[in-house]
Amino acid sequence: MLNRRTVRKYSAEPVGESLLNELLMAAARCSTTGNMQVYSIIVTHDAAVKKELLPFHFNQKMIVEAPLVLTFCADFNRFNKWCALRKADPGYDNFMSFMTAAIDALIAAQTFCMAAESRGLGICYLGTTTYMAHKIIEVLKLPRGVIPVTTVTAGWPAEQPVQVDRLPLEAVVHNEIYRDYTDADIDRFYSEKENRKDSQQFVAENKKESLAQVFTDIRYKKEDNVYFSKILLQVLKDQGFMNQ
Ligand SMILES: Cc1cc2nc3c(=O)[nH]c(=O)nc-3n(C[C@H](O)[C@H](O)[C@H](O)COP(=O)(O)O)c2cc1C
Repeated sequence: MLNRRTVRKYSAEPVGESLLNELLMAAARCSTTGNMQVYSIIVTHDAAVKKELLPFHFNQKMIVEAPLVLTFCADFNRFNKWCALRKADPGYDNFMSFMTAAIDALIAAQTFCMAAESRGLGICYLGTTTYMAHKIIEVLKLPRGVIPVTTVTAGWPAEQPVQVDRLPLEAVVHNEIYRDYTDADIDRFYSEKENRKDSQQFVAENKKESLAQVFTDIRYKKEDNVYFSKILLQVLKDQGFMNQ
């Protein structure tokens, strides 16, 4: 786990069915809320479906190049159906239940990733899933009660990228209670990241004053966040998670 890194280039060698099943079994062994398992995993091998998904992942080529694409979904559809068939009245048409199902889906995703990496595969998460959930729902034919929350591409690595930096452990760990950050703490915790050559290059190339501005003005800007929030809130409504 300490040696892992995200892998975005994969060899053409397929991931065998028995290995894939083993990894999916490991993912399904993860903890879930009340053991309800309110998630589903859509496994995409088909080149035609990958091609359809590609624009909705902002043309990130891992989608078509990776042998495996897995979309992890928050899913109350199956559980609601079980309840209805057993004279149980499901109360899962709300935001709380979406959070429950999204948490289950993400824990399953990360368990899959750890299992895959432990067997030598490389993985990459795709955050585009929540931006374009409405389109991915159409491609994967997800019914009401199901929302995609993350996508993972996986395959045999064709690259070994250098590990990227992390904040020092003391920046992310608090003992007993939260200790808020002073300006000096922030300077100290972010200094290594800011002083890296690649970070400085990033700042210069983008003609920004600081690395933080690369995040706020280019990579994760407010206008995009507001725009995609509106879409996601509509998806929550359309898929039956907003009290209706
Ligand atoms: C929720 C999530 C979404 C991500 N989305 C993308 C993505 O869309 N494209 C990409 O190339 N990497 C994506 N990543 C990978 C991160 O960029 C990567 O984990 C981070 O830079 C740290 O690198 P490392 O995993 O090699 O340590 C995502 C990771 C997470 C956890």
